[in-house]
Amino acid sequence: MGFFVRIDILTLFPAMFRGMLDSSIVRIAIEKKLADVRLSNVRNFTYDRHRSVDDTPYGGGPGMLLRPEPIFRAVEAIAWTEHTAPELLLMTPQGEPFTQHIAQQLSLKKHIAIICGHYEGFDERIRIGLKPWEISIGDYVLSGGEIPAMAIIDAIIRLLPGALGDQQSPESESFQNGLLEYAQYTKPIVWRDMPVPEVLSSGHHQKIRDWQFRSAYERTLARRPDLLEKFLQKNSQVLDKSKNTSFPP
Ligand code: ADE
Repeated sequence: MGFFVRIDILTLFPAMFRGMLDSSIVRIAIEKKLADVRLSNVRNFTYDRHRSVDDTPYGGGPGMLLRPEPIFRAVEAIAWTEHTAPELLLMTPQGEPFTQHIAQQLSLKKHIAIICGHYEGFDERIRIGLKPWEISIGDYVLSGGEIPAMAIIDAIIRLLPGALGDQQSPESESFQNGLLEYAQYTKPIVWRDMPVPEVLSSGHHQKIRDWQFRSAYERTLARRPDLLEKFLQKNSQVLDKSKNTSFPP
């Protein structure tokens, strides 16, 4: 069986990725040949004596910018598979906010390439010429795109069929259905005067599902009313029909 997804990472700091690629679910997915992740060092695409990847901005201003040449060459050096260009991503705080929905979209792609910047920013011609999908992992500034790329790779790989042992789990967790995850308990049944809610060990499946839904609902209302509003809009018909019965119907 072929790989589900190939991911090329274009970075000046490939060593940053070793820990995550060698650990946990990502490692298992790579071992199972669900994902083929390749690291490409952008500095290998510099041909000048100093192997320079960055330079000062025209017009002045603080910091250094990534030069366009090594980035263009690194992108062009990726072997296109099946004659289609990869989905090209650029990690930047100016990008589209990353969501579980984007992770799902990306988990369906055959080939993804991720450009990780460093320094103050990119020469604008990287945007104009390569037209990448610019993605941000949140409204804060990191010193490079490597950690954002790792977050995105992790979110994609765990959605690949067979990556998680228990195929149920991606569906029930936070965001996948639009609500935060419900409270969960394992053994022991009482810990330091804190008991597991009785219903959860009752064996009554419908009551358990009702409790879990209420827990997810209340948690989302308290912590993320913005998400709850979207959830209610999306599910209004279903919820109307199921009035006085339990959810999910
Ligand atoms: N590079 C630096 N900060 C970033 C962020 N928040 N998201 C994506 N790329 C970044």
